[in-house]
Amino acid sequence: MSVHKNIRRVTTNTLHEMKRNGVRIAMLTAYDYSMARLLDRSEIDILLVGDSASNVMAGHETTLPITLDQMIYHAQSVVRAVERALVVVDMPFGSYQGNSRLALESAIRIMKESGAHAVKLEGGEEIQESIKRILTAGIPVMGHLGLTPQSIYKFGTYVVRAKEDAEADKLKQDALLLQESGCFALVLEKIPASLAEEVSRSLAIPTIGIGAGAGTDGQVLVSHDMLGINHEFHPRFLRRYANLHEIIDSAVKQYIVDVKSGNFPSSNEQY
Ligand code: KIV
Repeated sequence: MSVHKNIRRVTTNTLHEMKRNGVRIAMLTAYDYSMARLLDRSEIDILLVGDSASNVMAGHETTLPITLDQMIYHAQSVVRAVERALVVVDMPFGSYQGNSRLALESAIRIMKESGAHAVKLEGGEEIQESIKRILTAGIPVMGHLGLTPQSIYKFGTYVVRAKEDAEADKLKQDALLLQESGCFALVLEKIPASLAEEVSRSLAIPTIGIGAGAGTDGQVLVSHDMLGINHEFHPRFLRRYANLHEIIDSAVKQYIVDVKSGNFPSSNEQY
């Protein structure tokens, strides 16, 4: 536990040390200054500026529409708030696939314009060239395997991935390849718990799971889901730690009643 306590800033080295010492890693998403500040002060290890901002912040159905400029805007807001956590930024759809030069350019823009500490890319062998080129610039890369939402139109649904042997074997190979390519950590999304545990044990770099069971080296959730701001999404893997939807709803309803009745503001709440 001593690895985790008293650290001033979480770095990729801290995460490796945590894995070596069996200290689990906690990661949450953040897209804006106010939430990032709260999560950072609570001592979250990693803040992911996820492309789930496309759903959570902008109301899109998928993560595909969010742009590089929009990701940089969210990342800038998060970085301004953070004193301790490692800030990882998702590279959005279209900013790295099939073109490693574009990938490097996009990653450099994210790092230079936002001040973030690392980038995350979805995929295995097919994006290895992009990952390697980004790493040549000294930019830390987090991988992401299993359910990769930027490929939703290839998968067709958001169901659990790699249940069949062929896909599980490919995922194991990709995990090793990402480690060998130089990724500092790996997100494993929505795959069987036994597979996630096997992969996690086989790697020296930490794995962070979402819907991948308890055998990974850390966990990640979308903050708005785990805080119950978004109450319409309830997959099996999601644990809600608060019900902010109800708290906000009742606060806003009370405010409306107070405004309409003339109860707010009182004589103490005016100049
Ligand atoms: O964009 C995101 O929020 C993510 C996490 C679910 C891992 O990639």
